[in-house]
Amino acid sequence: MAAEREKHSKKERFKERDYSLSGGSEGAIALDEDRLEDRVEEVWWSPDIPRKNLRAFMQRSDGPALWHFGLWIVLLAASGYLVVLSWGTWWVVLALLVYGTIYSSSDARWHECGHGTPFRTRWLNVVFYHISSFMTLREAYMWRWSHSRHHTHTIVVGRDPEIQVKRPADLLSLVLDFFYLRGGPTEIGRIVRNALGRPNSDVRDFVPDTERYKMFWSSRIYVAIIAGFGVWSIAIGSFLPMMFVALPRFYGGWLHQLLGLTQHAGLAENTYDHRTNPRTVHINPVFRYLYMNMNYHLEHHMLPAVPYHALPRIHEAIKDQTPRAYVSLWDVYREMVPALIRQATKDPDYHIERSLPQPIQVEDQVLSESSDTSAMSGNWVEVCDADDLDEEDVVRFDHNGNTYAVYRLKGDDFYATDGLCTHENTHLADGLVMDGIIECPKHNGRFEISSGKAKSLPVRVDLRTYPAERRGDKVFMCVTD
Ligand code: FES
Repeated sequence: MAAEREKHSKKERFKERDYSLSGGSEGAIALDEDRLEDRVEEVWWSPDIPRKNLRAFMQRSDGPALWHFGLWIVLLAASGYLVVLSWGTWWVVLALLVYGTIYSSSDARWHECGHGTPFRTRWLNVVFYHISSFMTLREAYMWRWSHSRHHTHTIVVGRDPEIQVKRPADLLSLVLDFFYLRGGPTEIGRIVRNALGRPNSDVRDFVPDTERYKMFWSSRIYVAIIAGFGVWSIAIGSFLPMMFVALPRFYGGWLHQLLGLTQHAGLAENTYDHRTNPRTVHINPVFRYLYMNMNYHLEHHMLPAVPYHALPRIHEAIKDQTPRAYVSLWDVYREMVPALIRQATKDPDYHIERSLPQPIQVEDQVLSESSDTSAMSGNWVEVCDADDLDEEDVVRFDHNGNTYAVYRLKGDDFYATDGLCTHENTHLADGLVMDGIIECPKHNGRFEISSGKAKSLPVRVDLRTYPAERRGDKVFMCVTD
């Protein structure tokens, strides 16, 4: 009888779990369409970094990314040329391996440009985002929304559409994905469905109705380009054209999978603490270049507005507050592989526990908080000393239960807006001020500071603005209902 009960409970534990977005989501923050009813950033653990230091880490410039992407294009073109030269000989195997590996590193470029962080010039991020989205077979509009959700609900079952290793772990699929044989067909299926205007229920869950037409048209373009290369291959009776588009993501995907598994596999589900579900691992400089420093994955999840080139520096700045970084890929795999085998064969609930450093007192970085009527005149309220705000700077200001963001652009040009992002209520004062724009630190949505206008997805609702000005050595804002 006991043996029978044990068999039954084991069967229950190994039953396929519902990871769909329309399924269960116990413990997750409630959603109202794509917005949160709660303040998610106040739920996630966050590191203690002085505001000015964080601002320095978030700074953008085109220089590093122009060199980075320029070299990538040269490597891609040179290895592609070697494929053409060696076609028909055994040397082509080596040439394809090199070309396919570089081509598949488009996935890291898709990711970074989707966050809008590598280049300061916005259109460069957009152009490279669309090119690399196509190369890595992640339709650009759908994945923009999907990835926002991933950052809000990292590895929360029923909320995160990007959980790579579901439980019980499917080991065969993980191995097949070294050649993109599990994820690839799924992705192509979604592109075809979206091109036909028939997204599946998960996609309908995270892509707002008003944005779907972009996803449909973009998917149709993907299908047309791939079909065009297919027709070309048939017309000339050679696989060569297809070896340059779409297929490289399969035959060259090994490195992407090798590095990608280190991000979250085997770690905790349903925890609002980025110290426990992404990893940081040290890898060699060539892999780091191809992977655009995404091996600093823990830091990336905590601070997604920090560009790829600043991640090693921010790792150094907060490493005392986070679990230890793995010293090598071997260091990760020797712990992760047994954990995944255990999840697959013995205990699907098992996960690797990260050992956390001693908690430190995290200061709420409100520069100023006022309910002191002596500092008020009419609806004007004193915010802070003018010297507390540099040019292109922002501070959080809490007053009478409301949160505002107060900005200084050039000279004595002060502005104030609501303090919470209209997408998912993140504090804008933790974001980056650049060229009259405030970029939200959570999903990099942008608002024009002077008008509060929503300028780029995923934000779609404008911010309310308030008058602000300098009076002597102080900054004041006018608080209105
Ligand atoms: S919370 Fe998503 S862009 Fe601000």
